[in-house]
Amino acid sequence: MSTDERATVSLPVRNDADLMTVRQRVRTLAQELGFGLVQQTKLVTAASELARNTLIHGGGGSVTVDAVSDAQGRDGLTLTFRDEGSGITDVDRALRDGYSTAGGLGMGLSGSKRLVHEFSVDTALGEGTTVSVTLWRGHASHGPR
Ligand SMILES: Nc1ncnc2c1ncn2[C@@H]1O[C@H](COP(=O)(O)OP(=O)(O)OP(=O)(O)O)[C@@H](O)[C@H]1O
Ligand SMILES: [Mg+2]
Repeated sequence: MSTDERATVSLPVRNDADLMTVRQRVRTLAQELGFGLVQQTKLVTAASELARNTLIHGGGGSVTVDAVSDAQGRDGLTLTFRDEGSGITDVDRALRDGYSTAGGLGMGLSGSKRLVHEFSVDTALGEGTTVSVTLWRGHASHGPR
């Protein structure tokens, strides 16, 4: 996978207004890259949950949106959420449906993972968390646009 300069965007995730901006920008970039409506919605939903985690659990941070392509020339969008919060104690547990340390539904991380093609978490206690997701653009014949 290589980073393409066409659309690299960095956005703050510091307050509720930022969450709205992140959702809007992710949708626009996905549209510009030719993602169909279903894929746009998947990416925006994942972005919304992960940005909320960055804000609520990570104490705020940022997200970068990169247009990427793989060796086969497939286009995708990678979203990388970074914070310098407390980190995640047990990532496997955090990825279980229904696990929340904050009285939430505990569906944000696990649900986001199911919506994308690539998903990775890099976290260190006391140092912060980076969650990176990629959705590859599907072919027009594989779903509604
Ligand atoms: N960026 C982060 N920094 C620290 N802990 C995190 C971070 N993201 C997730 N977590 C931990 O993983 C748990 C699960 O996250 P998940 O998004 O699935 O649930 P939630 O945020 O608690 O509830 P919701 O369903 O409302 O999203 C959180 O409760 C929190 O303990
Ligand atoms: Mg959450």
